[in-house]
Amino acid sequence: MNLNIEMQKLKALAREAADIIEKHEYVRVISHNDADGLTSAGIICQALIRKGIRFHTSIVPRLDTSVVEMVKSSTSENDLVLFCDMGSGQSEMISDIEQEIIVLDHHVPVGETPAKVLVNPHLVGIDGAMHVSGSGTTFLVAMEMEPGNIDLAGLAIAGAVGDKQLFSTINGHILEEAVNAGVISVKKGLRIGDGDLARVLEYTPEPYLDITGDRDKIDSFLDILGLHGNIEDLDTDRIKKLTSAVALKLAKHASPEAIDAAIGDVYLLNKELVPNVYDLVAILNTCGKAEKGGMGLSICMRDKTHLEEARDMAVSHQISIVENIKKGMDMVKKGKSIGYLIGEDMESTGMIASTFVRYVDPEMPFVAVNQVDELVKVSARGTRALVEKGLDLSFALREAAKLVGGEGGGHNVASGASIPPGTAEEFIAKVDEIVAQQLPNQENAE
Ligand code: C5P
Ligand code: ZN
Repeated sequence: MNLNIEMQKLKALAREAADIIEKHEYVRVISHNDADGLTSAGIICQALIRKGIRFHTSIVPRLDTSVVEMVKSSTSENDLVLFCDMGSGQSEMISDIEQEIIVLDHHVPVGETPAKVLVNPHLVGIDGAMHVSGSGTTFLVAMEMEPGNIDLAGLAIAGAVGDKQLFSTINGHILEEAVNAGVISVKKGLRIGDGDLARVLEYTPEPYLDITGDRDKIDSFLDILGLHGNIEDLDTDRIKKLTSAVALKLAKHASPEAIDAAIGDVYLLNKELVPNVYDLVAILNTCGKAEKGGMGLSICMRDKTHLEEARDMAVSHQISIVENIKKGMDMVKKGKSIGYLIGEDMESTGMIASTFVRYVDPEMPFVAVNQVDELVKVSARGTRALVEKGLDLSFALREAAKLVGGEGGGHNVASGASIPPGTAEEFIAKVDEIVAQQLPNQENAE
């Protein structure tokens, strides 16, 4: 990949989008309710404020017809409609919107976009699942609007961390610019939130260790290492001791990306209210799940009002994720080529699926099906190694969902679906069949 050329092409698209945004007096912003979507919204809203452009932002869990209706009923003729971290896969659906549209996204484009400009890494030959997030794409547009927006780079990096991306290529370029500008500092260590070491290890779902959630085991692990106190106060030698001990635990089962995700460069966001990027991501994901997108967005906009409430919510949410992962352990089944579980009223199925594939059995993608009332939601997660071998979960979930009257999509490595009640078994069988075709040599991998 010749990053320079691809980067220039992406920046040219960002420039086109910036030109159109700057011609409008009012922008209707719609973004996703996860950490990447909320940071995308945080970036574009601050860039708009700085240009004196008024806006109205909504944070939504997915782009469906109800969102399109909401947009239509809350806009006037000359408004600009701007989608962040969504919109590439729903070209037909958003064609119903009469106003000018801009889409800033990193999902695989499907169909012919009605957007005046679609800024999407896939259009310039870059895999948006791994190399740049919705917030990174939005940040490139903000930089075209005003180079002074470099202070927003911390949000772009947080979005990429939230989407579990790599920090080479485009993300690497954004990171480098941010470090040079003093917006981000990098140190080595364990890639987890700040606070009391034992407590953080207890409630943090990633990295998922054999001591996670078990305070007695954590205390004896830390006693043996002689490590206590706040993570952010540990000196370099103690950090090394901690990371080596965690690496040893991970070496048994975890995928290479789980080890990368757990240990290495730790990013400190010098301009954000929550400088520890892992804490910020956990807080934002929690706000999104709790339908408090506004709270998450206000934190991205550096408003402290709800910060402590959001921090407390994030800790409780992570505790419940860990409990759910433990419960899920007993429900796991194996198909030909996928691991899966079919549950009810579970929380955080995305985290459950990613924990299984990253920390328990990296040989098989994992599909978690969760029925809540009349809604069945599916989250599927793979690894980079499986994607390199041919896995495309987005395709598998879209096709299997279509078969049972639902809809699905997303990224090759992480995707989701909604399916009608009562169709879970048929859906799983179809996903298993498609993945078996994508990964012919993986069948019955143990
Ligand atoms: O819901 P979850 O986090 O598992 O979704 C993973 C990915 O799948 C996201 O990128 C989301 O946009 C996508 N997705 C989709 N269609 C659905 C559900 C999720 O494209 N019905
Ligand atoms: Zn995203």
